[in-house]
Amino acid sequence: KDCKDQMIIDAGQKHFGAIICKSCGMIYTAASPEDEAQHIQHHQRFLEGIRYAGWKKERVVAEFWDGKIVLVLPDDPKYAIKKAEDVRELVDNELGFKQTALNCPSKIKTYFFVSNEKKIIGCLIAEQIKQAFRVLSEPNVPQSPNRDILQHHRAWRCSAKPEAAICGVSRIWVFSLMRRRGIARRMVDVVRNTFMYGCYLSTDEIAFSDPTPDGKLFATKYCQT
Ligand code: ACO
Ligand code: ZN
Repeated sequence: KDCKDQMIIDAGQKHFGAIICKSCGMIYTAASPEDEAQHIQHHQRFLEGIRYAGWKKERVVAEFWDGKIVLVLPDDPKYAIKKAEDVRELVDNELGFKQTALNCPSKIKTYFFVSNEKKIIGCLIAEQIKQAFRVLSEPNVPQSPNRDILQHHRAWRCSAKPEAAICGVSRIWVFSLMRRRGIARRMVDVVRNTFMYGCYLSTDEIAFSDPTPDGKLFATKYCQT
């Protein structure tokens, strides 16, 4: 077993004996053969999924010190579409999304954040939409048990009034070990700039569909600033 690849997690009691794999981010118990087997399986599939060899005709829409953003469009060559599908599958797996079909594949724009190490560490799937329903802010009772239940079930209260929107973010995902470095923020900035030719979309014109607790925290913060 490759020990360099692992580090002991210091999250205390709850994760006692658990380790987190530095390459695939999975947290597991090394003492459990089942866990280890599961890890090996996930590890290989994940690393293969996020591997980005690079394409001759890739569409680079932004470049940064720590990577670049590549856009894949529905009419792109098969290998690009295949990669977009593979990454979407990984993301859906992590998000627990069961329905794999997208509303309208011909209108999908997939954005990858590719690291300098040639790994896809961020993915954003955007669709053209006409309207959205605003998620209503919850009553301000921090730490109430109710709130946790709501967050857990992703049962946000939504407004009944449709509002015009142009771009729906159907998935946004950043590799667990690369979060809080502004990768999601930079992907959304780029979407706003490239989704509709010649326009810079306002935050009102983009909508996040069915957000997870992480997604909601990010979107709330992003749309305020
Ligand atoms: N908790 C609190 N605030 C957060 C969080 C969080 N988990 N994530 C982002 N923010 C806020 C912060 O204010 C942050 O700025 P700061 O780090 O300077 O404080 C700001 O949003 C910008 O965050 P980024 O660094 O750009 O976000 P990141 O690259 O970490 O990606 C994301 C955020 C995509 C939600 C990531 O946590 C993730 O992949 N989570 C798992 C998948 C997921 O739940 N995706 C959303 C699904 S919903 C949908 O797809 C429509
Ligand atoms: Zn691993």
